[in-house]
Amino acid sequence: MSNFDEYLTKNHDRFESDLFEWLRMPSIGTDSAYDKDVRQAAQWLAGKFSELDLKTELIETCGHPLVYAESPKIEGAPTVLVYGHYDVQPPDPYELWETPPFEPSVRDGNVYARGATDDKGQMITHLFGVEAYLKTKGDLPVQVKFLIEGEEESGGAGLAAFLAGEYDKDVPVKEKLAADIAVISDCSQYAPGQPAITYGLKGITYFQVNLTGPNRDLHSGSFGGTVTNPANALCKMLAALIDDDGRVQIPGFYDNVNELDQREREQFSSLGFSDEEYRNELGVKELAGEKGFTTLERRWARPTFDINGLWSGYQGEGAKTVLPAKASAKFSFRLVPDQDPHEIEASLKKMLEELCPPGIEMDFDPHHGAPGFVLSLDSPFMSAAARAIELGFGTAPVFVRSGGSIPVVNRFTEMLGIDTLLLGWGQDDDNLHSPNEKFSLEDFHRGIKSSCCLWDEIAKI
Ligand code: BES
Ligand code: ZN
Repeated sequence: MSNFDEYLTKNHDRFESDLFEWLRMPSIGTDSAYDKDVRQAAQWLAGKFSELDLKTELIETCGHPLVYAESPKIEGAPTVLVYGHYDVQPPDPYELWETPPFEPSVRDGNVYARGATDDKGQMITHLFGVEAYLKTKGDLPVQVKFLIEGEEESGGAGLAAFLAGEYDKDVPVKEKLAADIAVISDCSQYAPGQPAITYGLKGITYFQVNLTGPNRDLHSGSFGGTVTNPANALCKMLAALIDDDGRVQIPGFYDNVNELDQREREQFSSLGFSDEEYRNELGVKELAGEKGFTTLERRWARPTFDINGLWSGYQGEGAKTVLPAKASAKFSFRLVPDQDPHEIEASLKKMLEELCPPGIEMDFDPHHGAPGFVLSLDSPFMSAAARAIELGFGTAPVFVRSGGSIPVVNRFTEMLGIDTLLLGWGQDDDNLHSPNEKFSLEDFHRGIKSSCCLWDEIAKI
């Protein structure tokens, strides 16, 4: 048994109890009623970094604080920037949780709690990975910098301002964060027992549209057929955004889409993905989406359009014959490299203005946007991470892409000129953002071991 294994075995239960202590703090970043708990979660984490003698700071921002910590610079060795987030999604609807979201509960080898996988449980594996290395081998072979934010689930304004240099003190942020590679564990493995490295993420561009028609809700009998109903208009406008083959109809939408090459198509199909199992898991009789692409291709490498929220008129029990004065929708497009969220926004706006019928006022409200990301499979950091994962999980990882978005990845590329290794220890069915979020404890420990091995593997490059 290596020194690492001995240390990991000895500290197995304490790693879990530390994680559970952190999970008990309801760090719901979007809800100001929880500001105190969010801060407590940040301080708890900063305390853990300090205990390891890392140079630690709680950086105040316009929003929730950032937790920053770094080990000493090692001359001639690479620097690794680990990013994660300590904020969690709101847990509602509460009644659908089998056990309360902020009382971690272990069932079937999983810990159930809000933030278990997204992202406290995954992020903290790197803190313990560094701890195990320091306690067994002394100094780290690379410099490790941690940047952990508290607003990932709510727009990341504090981090954006920090990256823009607004809180620079002695050292400009570009210098402070300078690194050779970033590491993020905030995504999934391919399947239980099959670890993965995620080499691509989708981008996103998110909008809200509010339509207003008559100056008040009307009786649909007395007034129907005489004015445009904003709900009817909205349905028609949204329906025009996508055709029956699942192709988005915004002019120029596909112009810059990086088409899948043969190597990637073959690689996706070598994973043996089963449409039938996927259908059963989601409880649908038929899958759908853009024609001409497999399910994995559509999930990982084709742009998509989804309405995320839609409201107008009467929502209560029974029937109410109303012609509503207003109708609204929230919707988003997941993007792939090299689609430009700004160009798509401009083209969409023009298209909706043309589609909006006379007699209806449109308020077009763009929310956030970020481009997609792909890391070359030939990067030496990929091979280093693959070796570390094989040591940690006992199985070599497969290479996957994901439909999720982690906008900071692009910021690291633009600002620091570095790539990001996405090493997800979670599973797609971990219920992130849903009730009964979970994380496999076995994978938690395997993640810690992989992290512990990663530092040597990166140092060898
Ligand atoms: N951890 C997720 C992103 C993720 C999920 C990556 C699944 C890979 C697989 C992250 O916390 C998240 O939810 N991101 C948002 C970003 C958006 C709000 C800009 C997302 O993807 O919806
Ligand atoms: Zn996350």
